[in-house]
Amino acid sequence: RYAYVNGRFHRHSEAAIHIEDRGFQFADAVYEVWSVRNGQLLDADGHFQRLQRSLGELRIPSPRTRAALEQIIAELLRRNRVRNGLVYLQVSRGQARRDHAFPRTATTPTIVLTCKRLDFAAADARAEAGIAVITVPDQRWARCDIKTVNLLPNVLAKQAAQEAGATEAWLVDADGHVTEGSSTNAWIVTKAGKLVTRPADNHILHGITRARIFQCSQLLDLEIEERPFTPAEACDAREAFLTSATSFVTPVVSIDHHTIANGRPGSLATALRQAYLDQS
Ligand code: PDD
Repeated sequence: RYAYVNGRFHRHSEAAIHIEDRGFQFADAVYEVWSVRNGQLLDADGHFQRLQRSLGELRIPSPRTRAALEQIIAELLRRNRVRNGLVYLQVSRGQARRDHAFPRTATTPTIVLTCKRLDFAAADARAEAGIAVITVPDQRWARCDIKTVNLLPNVLAKQAAQEAGATEAWLVDADGHVTEGSSTNAWIVTKAGKLVTRPADNHILHGITRARIFQCSQLLDLEIEERPFTPAEACDAREAFLTSATSFVTPVVSIDHHTIANGRPGSLATALRQAYLDQS
């Protein structure tokens, strides 16, 4: 296996960054995740645009042009023989002697790219069964719209979900509303058949898959209400589902051990998953 670090491909086991990298010391870094299907990046434009935005918000200079990154990614996938899986890209502010403020002399951003195979058949099976989620308090900061590697609250939430026998944790803010999942956006379907998801404000990641569902919903003639919802409303909903680059659309069949509707994946979530995959 190979990884790309700062201009070169290295054997995965030997790839390394400096101990005084600001990504390591301060989580002063952003990242992106693309799914790869049949050798192609899914939603390439959206993820490249969000990468630019995340870098801009943190004033980290863009380390490569999009065209250069695309070439590196193609080579990475070729070397690793990955046709179905994901690509992970991380860019940190670079290395400098530890000091919280930005280094006074400009650093060279650290760039790391890895990829791995994913078994999309297993993901399909998970979607056909539907998954369980639990809710936990949202303990993150007020700029969740920036895709930073500052993910400790997300890590703890996902661990809590796994320990509870669930697949994902939905994060609940101080007002009692679901913000999003630890690594996914959260959706419900009302009894009237409307899709509900939280507005893309500073409390959630503006999911690229979430944006694609807005397009798919038009094709299926479905209405979307962008507003916060509570776990109680979700438990009582007709359907619930989540979205992300690697899980596409995945139906949720229980929340905090409470069964949603008849405990089977909902028809709209299933139709949206199909529409998303058909359009990709
Ligand atoms: N997670 N919300 C959070 C907190 C996320 O980390 C992600 C993505 C999403 C969904 O965004 P998108 O549709 O653009 O993937 C929502 C990636 C997959 C990860 O951390 O691995």
